[in-house]
Amino acid sequence: NQESLAQIKASIKTIPDYPKAGIMFRDVTSLLEDAQAYKATIAILVAQYQSKGFTKVVGTEARGFLFGAPLALELGIGFVPVRKPGKLPRETLSENYELEYGKDTLEIHTDAINADDKVLVIDDLLATGGTIEATVKLIRRLGGHVEDAAFIISLPEIGGEKRLKEMGINVLSLCEYEGE
Ligand code: PRP
Ligand code: MG
Repeated sequence: NQESLAQIKASIKTIPDYPKAGIMFRDVTSLLEDAQAYKATIAILVAQYQSKGFTKVVGTEARGFLFGAPLALELGIGFVPVRKPGKLPRETLSENYELEYGKDTLEIHTDAINADDKVLVIDDLLATGGTIEATVKLIRRLGGHVEDAAFIISLPEIGGEKRLKEMGINVLSLCEYEGE
């Protein structure tokens, strides 16, 4: 497991000054290109979350789909997408959230989650936590139970972990980057 985590972290490339000067961009696409690292990532998440009674995995567009869908398949439970506005064809709920500059909206199908669901939320990266706070609110508005969120990458200095913990969410992150 320590070995797998080191392999996963080594597969994530860092691009300095992207998308703007001073930002160290952690690029999860290089992990996806590495079959062993991708497989190890899903295996760690399966080991962590199997046999815990989860009934749904929720992943947030777009990069949350890349980890949420394979995880749901391995856990043998359904995958529910949270999407950007106007993409889901059935009745939806919407939640606004703050971006670094401006606002955006996320949506979920109202019939995709119910009060019997115990939901695991997954995304590639946790920064401010705004994306996953909005995702958790959507699930809770539908009556779903959610206390767990998993990330491949976390940037704890930006505050998302604290923000999610204050909402009663246990945060698992495979690779943390602090002052690197
Ligand atoms: C990125 C990333 C997370 C989110 C993290 O998504 O994939 O979803 O930002 O930031 P936060 O914790 O501050 O909310 P982005 O909105 O860039 O879109 P994408 O997944 O469609 O690429
Ligand atoms: Mg995203």
